[in-house]
Amino acid sequence: MLRTVKAICRFPSDVINAKPFLKWAGGKTQLLDELYKRLPQSLLQSGEIKRYVEPFVGGGALFFFLKRKFKVKEAFLMDVNKELIIGYKVIQRNVNELISELSKLQEIYIKLSEEIRKDFYYRIRDEYNKQKEDFDYSSYNFDWIKRAAYLIFLNKTCFNGLYRLNKRGEFNVPFGKYKNPVICDAVNLIEVNKALMDVEVICADFEESKKYIEQNTLVYLDPPYRPLNSTSNFTTYNEEGFDDYDQIRLANFFREMDNLGAFLMLSNSDPKNEDPDDDFFDSLYEGFVIERVKAKRCINSNADKRGDIKEIIIRNYE
Ligand SMILES: C[S@@+](CC[C@H](N)C(=O)[O-])C[C@H]1O[C@@H](n2cnc3c(N)ncnc32)[C@H](O)[C@@H]1O
Repeated sequence: MLRTVKAICRFPSDVINAKPFLKWAGGKTQLLDELYKRLPQSLLQSGEIKRYVEPFVGGGALFFFLKRKFKVKEAFLMDVNKELIIGYKVIQRNVNELISELSKLQEIYIKLSEEIRKDFYYRIRDEYNKQKEDFDYSSYNFDWIKRAAYLIFLNKTCFNGLYRLNKRGEFNVPFGKYKNPVICDAVNLIEVNKALMDVEVICADFEESKKYIEQNTLVYLDPPYRPLNSTSNFTTYNEEGFDDYDQIRLANFFREMDNLGAFLMLSNSDPKNEDPDDDFFDSLYEGFVIERVKAKRCINSNADKRGDIKEIIIRNYE
């Protein structure tokens, strides 16, 4: 199937080879095959996606995959995390300046001993948190470039590539030990810039994406995981969090978009991994196609708990 799609792919000059520019908790790189198999048949055959909407874009693993395989005519990427959106927008508008900031950071960092790297990491982390106090998030300006560079630097050098905030909204992930972290992947950043051409990137709650969804729009929904148990709280991507009330709000949104005739695919962790009797998603999405697929639990900081688990994929089409 993969080969057929490649055959109807674009001219070489259009080829885009982008992959996520951040490691992102819940990133879907390892689930791409399963998601790919479940794309609408009509789309797989035509090789073209007229309109794509991703309301919880995160690192955008599926979006970049689709850009590599299909002609995506229009795309709208959204996320409530404003720091992440700064990253996307800076890559869209000032990728060369961003590369230059990152290569300076890379050059300094790579020469340091582990102890000094650690000091340097915490210095940048402090600066990043301080910068937030009077940062203008409302309109694009050149300070955004430095902020995006810090975000990428921290992401590549922090523990497990996590993004986590404390109650005061400060980034609080500790230092991570990597031998040779690639802080500035210039080639990929340029590819990401190409992939984001003519794409609208928006910082908003998922319900705002309604505006962009119409009949036949392909919508991929990958909300924060419902915690597998009360102690796993890795879903803190933003100050607000995402609780069961939001999951219900999302299921209502899913039904509404289904009525519009959009193609909807949603993924989440399967609560049955922990409690076989937990039918939370089965009842929320009753009447839709619900499948369970194997995935790796790789965002658990406890290595003992990183085995295979099931992930749910829900669609409103066969
Ligand atoms: C599981 S991650 C998405 C991962 C993505 N599929 C990838 O491949 O990296 C969930 C994302 O939802 C975002 N999010 C949380 N609450 C949201 C909301 N109410 N509306 C929109 N996005 C939200 C988080 O910031 C996070 O980036």
